[in-house]
Amino acid sequence: MKRNRITMEADGGEESGTLPCSKRVKIQQSPEESKKKEKENEEKEEKEKEKKNQEMHIRNPYRNNPPNYLELAKKYENFSKYVTEKGQIDYNDAMSNLQLTKVLLEEDFKIKYFDMPLDNLIPPVPQRLNYVLFVQDLMDCIPDYMLNNLSIHPSVIKFFGSETTKQNNTTNIYGLDIGCGASGILSLLLVQSNNPKQYNYKCIGTEVDLQSIECVNTIINQNQLQNKIKILQQTNSSHIFNSLFNDYNTNANKNDIIVHFTICNPPFFDDINETGLNPHRISSGTNHELVFSSGGEIGFIQLMCKECHTLKLEKNILWFTTMLGKKSSIQPIQHFLLQLYHNHPLQLKPFIIQTTFSQGKQTRWGLAWTFYRKCYDSYLQLLNNNDDNGNKNNVSFTHQLSIPLSSSINEQQWINYILLPAIQQYGIRISSSDLVNKQILFHQDFNLFSCNISWIVFSDQQQHILLTFKFLDGDYVLFSAFHKWLQSQLISN
Ligand SMILES: C[S@@+](CC[C@H](N)C(=O)[O-])C[C@H]1O[C@@H](n2cnc3c(N)ncnc32)[C@H](O)[C@@H]1O
Repeated sequence: MKRNRITMEADGGEESGTLPCSKRVKIQQSPEESKKKEKENEEKEEKEKEKKNQEMHIRNPYRNNPPNYLELAKKYENFSKYVTEKGQIDYNDAMSNLQLTKVLLEEDFKIKYFDMPLDNLIPPVPQRLNYVLFVQDLMDCIPDYMLNNLSIHPSVIKFFGSETTKQNNTTNIYGLDIGCGASGILSLLLVQSNNPKQYNYKCIGTEVDLQSIECVNTIINQNQLQNKIKILQQTNSSHIFNSLFNDYNTNANKNDIIVHFTICNPPFFDDINETGLNPHRISSGTNHELVFSSGGEIGFIQLMCKECHTLKLEKNILWFTTMLGKKSSIQPIQHFLLQLYHNHPLQLKPFIIQTTFSQGKQTRWGLAWTFYRKCYDSYLQLLNNNDDNGNKNNVSFTHQLSIPLSSSINEQQWINYILLPAIQQYGIRISSSDLVNKQILFHQDFNLFSCNISWIVFSDQQQHILLTFKFLDGDYVLFSAFHKWLQSQLISN
């Protein structure tokens, strides 16, 4: 009978189990058992990967058909050098990643030339594609009557060397790729992917780094995409829209649309030390790509919101979107945005959607907001009409409700004596409430939908409490009915 042998490994590791020593315990297995275990682990990993892949965007071709590295290696000689016999590549090696991105762009997006310095951020195609497909969904939902009646600013149309907003009778959709990087990946995928409505996508990339601009311009020229992607240099790294749109403002009709959407993968970190990388040699991204010293990704997107507010661009762009590297960035950005438009003189209000972009083991978050109620409603309708739950699972959207607080009651009292009893009166069961972090969660098992309510208090002339209802899962119609009912109760109180 084969037995497992227990050996002690003197590596100064942590105490393990109840053994009375501070040495790590290792179970030594027979070669057959090790092989079996290895196979089991591989199968488990494969299953987990498959499960994670199902969280990809429903139209992402890699969702059900992940790239087959062995097949690709047969076709692309340079790539074959980085593929093992088992059909794997080393994701820690920048060159392997670059070769993979190159072949996927050529194979699936007809990008014949793609090259970039190895110390720049090498973008993974399937993951960036998730974001691009989400943006396409937002565009596909813009009602036709609205799209056909939009007036696009003439300078934007001319910038692409055209006179009209149609090309071969199909509509042009203009986007602003903020911080397009050396790869211009988001723009490349947008203009080269198929989209259900067959719009012609055209992107203006903005970038502060001159070397990146040179690199992305070479990619554009080599692939003859000059009439689809244009790059603008942002000369001031603490500006996003400012200085880019000065020309547009001079003879602009205030109601013109500048671009239909913005897309952005902001620098994530506040400080180079946060990256855990050697400041002298960063192998997976350069300093300007990774660091925005005024608050990392939160600071970058808050700056974008602030400039939009100052320049009054709310109605000149239909959807503002961003990808985020940290889940914890969502809440501060949302609150900042809501606060910025609280009591806006023109009653402008951002409608916000959250989503996740999953690929393999990696998850990124997405945030989109619009000042057009129609755009928001029609996107929600798409989710409701979509029989396949694929996209719904990743998306949550919010309703906001602002309620004045009378001076005789404080926030805590309002929550305890007004909000919670009203919720209970409706028969909703609360699964957890976290009054310190100001949120309450309702779970689907009891209520047939999951929802989260969070709140912030504004203290301007009069105290206001702003509730954000976030639909997470389940029956959206029931959630909407609950939200409407609660709104009527709270406002009449
Ligand atoms: C994380 S990288 C994203 C690159 C590419 N879009 C991608 O998804 O791989 C962020 C980029 O934003 C650029 N950037 C930083 N500040 C900027 C600003 N104020 N305006 C435009 N681009 C900026 C950086 O140079 C960098 O290339």
